[in-house]
Amino acid sequence: MKVKDVKQKEYLQRIKLLTMKLLDDKLDFLITKSAIEEYKSILLEVSQLDLNCKSGQDDIQFENGIALGTNWAALCISDIMRTRNFIRGIVKAAKKIEKAGKRPIRILYAGSGPFATLVLPLIAQYSSEELQIIIMETNPKSIQYLQLVISNLGIENYFEKILKEDASKYKLKSPEKIDMLISETMQHGLVKEQQVPIMLNLVRQLESEAIVIPERISLELAFMNSRAQLIFENRSKEKYKVLSSLWNFDRNYIDHFNSLQKEASNENEIELIENLDVRSEMEGAYDKLVVLTSIQVYKDEWIDIDSSSLTIPKVLLDLEGMKEGEKEISIKYTMNGNPNFEYELK
Ligand SMILES: C[S@@+](CC[C@H](N)C(=O)[O-])C[C@H]1O[C@@H](n2cnc3c(N)ncnc32)[C@H](O)[C@@H]1O
Repeated sequence: MKVKDVKQKEYLQRIKLLTMKLLDDKLDFLITKSAIEEYKSILLEVSQLDLNCKSGQDDIQFENGIALGTNWAALCISDIMRTRNFIRGIVKAAKKIEKAGKRPIRILYAGSGPFATLVLPLIAQYSSEELQIIIMETNPKSIQYLQLVISNLGIENYFEKILKEDASKYKLKSPEKIDMLISETMQHGLVKEQQVPIMLNLVRQLESEAIVIPERISLELAFMNSRAQLIFENRSKEKYKVLSSLWNFDRNYIDHFNSLQKEASNENEIELIENLDVRSEMEGAYDKLVVLTSIQVYKDEWIDIDSSSLTIPKVLLDLEGMKEGEKEISIKYTMNGNPNFEYELK
């Protein structure tokens, strides 16, 4: 065996072993952290990505939001609970598809970044006859590095296509049978990046049994006490008071949205809450109105509030700044170059 082949085998073996640590149901934070650090160091080595290089820091602006610069997309790996729980959900979803007798399992990964972080653990577990991946990434620099990762790991056979495309617009060639769609192109509260337009575009093109990862992104409107300490066991109760569910962004919602869009006049706006009385719920130490995010990656794999950069609260407004007569709030989500919430108080 050539030296290069031995090295590639070693890398894949290391990824396989560290994945086993991430799949352990008993969460040991230090073991998880060191597994993720090892994963990151393997990926930096095989991609030859220099995180200090300035050109990898530029985000790309699109009509529907930003695409992260290569370095920032690479660094998502260090968001420990995000990376762990996405990988766990994806491995479980792959097992479900495998059990249904599908071979190969065909995955569409929209927004892979330079590392394809969320699917490489599957490559360490399946052969290329069992697993085929289509990559859709819009940042050309990230694609260049991903190609190095793929060739230096010797895993070209797993990649059916690498498309430099905007996943919020791309039309799949039919019949393109996808078993699992993965996209983690989001920030807390679904602001700035393109998770929503990407999912709205791609999910409607999939067959109904295809698994969508994440399965659901759940947003809630809450008061926050910004001075409350994050005491682990009881933190949510002290820090937040949930007022209302804001948005369950999942396949049901996407189907509903797509059916409404046929008649809608403004397809870039989504009404979330109309005239909710916030004034009479106000109490005590709560000083901010926030959007809380939690993510159901797949089945019982969740990323809970405050456990990842994706699930920290998004502050909507300072309650102290509310004028005297203002009582009710209406909130909509707007999809444009800077996806965000807009609210009106009256
Ligand atoms: C938050 S990073 C996550 C990277 C990787 N999936 C991970 O989990 O570590 C999102 C990636 O999606 C890409 N992206 C954003 N919008 C996109 C779009 N409309 N089409 C394709 N890729 C997109 C970005 O360039 C970036 O590489």
